[in-house]
Amino acid sequence: MADDLLKKIIAHSKEYGFIFPSSEIYDGLSAVYDYGQNGAELKNNIKQYWWQSMVQLHSNIVGLDAAIFMHPKVWEASGHVGAFNDPLIDNKDSKKRYRADVLIEEFRAKYEAKIAKDVEKAQKKFGEQFDKEQFIATNPNVLRNQAKIDELNARFVKALNDNDLVELRQIIIDNEIACPESGSKNWTEVRQFNLMFDTKLGSVSDTANTIYLRPETAQGIFVNYLNVQKSGRMKIPFGIAQIGKAFRNEIVARQFIFRMREFEQMEMQFFVRPGEEMKWYEYWKEFRIKWHKNLNLGDENYKFHNHDKLAHYANAAVDIEFNFPMGFKEVEGIHSRTDFDLGRHQEFSGKKLQYFDPELNESYVPYVVETSIGVDRMFMTILSAAYKEEVVGETGETRIVLAIPPALAPVKIAILPLVKKDGLPEIADKIFDKLKFHFNVIYEEKDSIGKRYRRQDAIGTPYCITIDHQTKEDNTVTLRHRDSMEQERVSVDELINIAHEKVSMAKLLENLL
Ligand code: GAP
Repeated sequence: MADDLLKKIIAHSKEYGFIFPSSEIYDGLSAVYDYGQNGAELKNNIKQYWWQSMVQLHSNIVGLDAAIFMHPKVWEASGHVGAFNDPLIDNKDSKKRYRADVLIEEFRAKYEAKIAKDVEKAQKKFGEQFDKEQFIATNPNVLRNQAKIDELNARFVKALNDNDLVELRQIIIDNEIACPESGSKNWTEVRQFNLMFDTKLGSVSDTANTIYLRPETAQGIFVNYLNVQKSGRMKIPFGIAQIGKAFRNEIVARQFIFRMREFEQMEMQFFVRPGEEMKWYEYWKEFRIKWHKNLNLGDENYKFHNHDKLAHYANAAVDIEFNFPMGFKEVEGIHSRTDFDLGRHQEFSGKKLQYFDPELNESYVPYVVETSIGVDRMFMTILSAAYKEEVVGETGETRIVLAIPPALAPVKIAILPLVKKDGLPEIADKIFDKLKFHFNVIYEEKDSIGKRYRRQDAIGTPYCITIDHQTKEDNTVTLRHRDSMEQERVSVDELINIAHEKVSMAKLLENLL
C-alpha cells in the first residue's frame, strides 16, 4: 500500500514535470535527480518560505552564500574526515550492502507498527471512552512489544555510543534480522565507510590537493561567523542562514528523493551565550514545528524524535519526523552543537574566533543551536501529503489532484478562455498580463475546459479563472477552487486582491506569527 503510493508519486512526478531521474537517456544515475519545470517552481517556493520565515521575519538573522569547496582542513576540524561514517554490512548471499543501524531501526519499527495497530484497533472498538495512555500502560500485547523495543534500544544505543561494530552485528544476528532482498541471514562483519566525496583541486593530482564536496552547508557558516558578525555589527544572539547543495556518498540510497547523493540543505546556525543554548534549543524546536504545521499538511503527520546517538558535535538533538509513504522519517534536525565547531576551527586555524560581548564585557566562543532541513525531503513531505486520487461526479471518474499549500504551488492561477474565439483569448491575455507581475500564472486554451481543469489539478494549481461570454457583458470570470472544485463568479477587477488573500507567500508568513 505504502509502496504503491510511493510508486504513484514517482510516476506522477515524472509525468507532470516535477522530478526526472538524472541523465535518464543513459539509464539514470543512482540517487541523483533533476527537477523539471514544476519541480523547480515548487522547490523555489519552499526555499522562499524558509528563507523569508528565517531571515525576513527575524531581525537578528542574516543570510550567507558560501562556496561548496572549502579548505580541506575544515573537514578535519569539523570531525568529518575522522567520524562522518556509516556502519555498513553486506549480505553474503544477495551481495547487497546495508547500513547496520538502518537494518536495526527498521526491525524496531515493526514492533512500533504493531503497537500502533493495537492502539488503532482498540480506539475503534471503544470509541469516545478510549483511554490511550491507560491502554498502552496495561495491554499485555503492547507491553510485550514495548519490552522488546526497550531491550533492543538499550543494546542498540550502547553499541552506537561505544562505536561497537561487533555488537551491532551481534544485534542483527541475535534478532535474526534478514536481508530485505533475499531473506538470507548470512552477514559479513560491520565496517565503517566515510560518506564524503573527494576530488582534486588544480592540475596536480596528489593527495595534498584533495578537497571534499561539502557534506553539510553548516561549516561555511562557522568559518564565516566573525566576518558576518563584524561586517553586520551583529550582537549575540544572532543567526546566519544558508541554502545550498550538499553531497554524501550514501550507501542506502533508496526511496526516491528521500536519500540522495546530491541534495540541498537549508541550515541556520544561531550563536548564543554559553549556558543559554537550551533555552534557544527549545525556542527553535517550537518555531520549526510551527513552520511545518503552518502548511496544513496534517498535524498528525509530524512528531519529534530524540536522537538515539548524539553526533560528535551535539549536546542535545531532535528530529522532526514526517509520516512519509514509508512511515515516520526525519525531515529536519535541530541540534545544540555547543562550541564544538567554533572551538575546533579556532584550534585548527590558529585564529581567534571569540566574540566580545559588550553587555558582559567579556570574550567567549559562542555556543550554537542549529536548524537543518533538506529541501528535497521537504519537497517529498509535500508530495506525500498532497497526492490524492478522488472519485468525482456520478460517472465514477477519478481525478488526481495535488493539494499543495497554495502559496507553494508551482502555478498559482491558470487563465483559461472557454473557447478560442469571440474575443475571449484577448480578454484572457489582458488578465494574464496584469497578474503575471504578482504571481506565476499560466495561459491555456487547448482542449476542453474539463480537461484543462484536470491538468491543473494534477500539478496542484489552486485556482483556475475561466473567461466566457458573460465576461464580455459584466466583466466577471469564473473562479474555480482546486480542492472543492466549487466555482464562483468574481469581478476581473477583484482578481489581484483575491489572489493576494489566497495564494501569496505574505499571507502564509503572517499565519506563522
Ligand atoms: N548540519 C547538520 C546536518 O547536516 P543531518 O541530519 O545530517 O544534519 C540535515 O542533515 C538534513 O539534511 C536532514 O534532516 C535531511 O532533511 C537532509 N539530508 C541529509 N542527508 C540527506 C540525503 N542523503 N538526501 C536528502 N536529504 C538529506
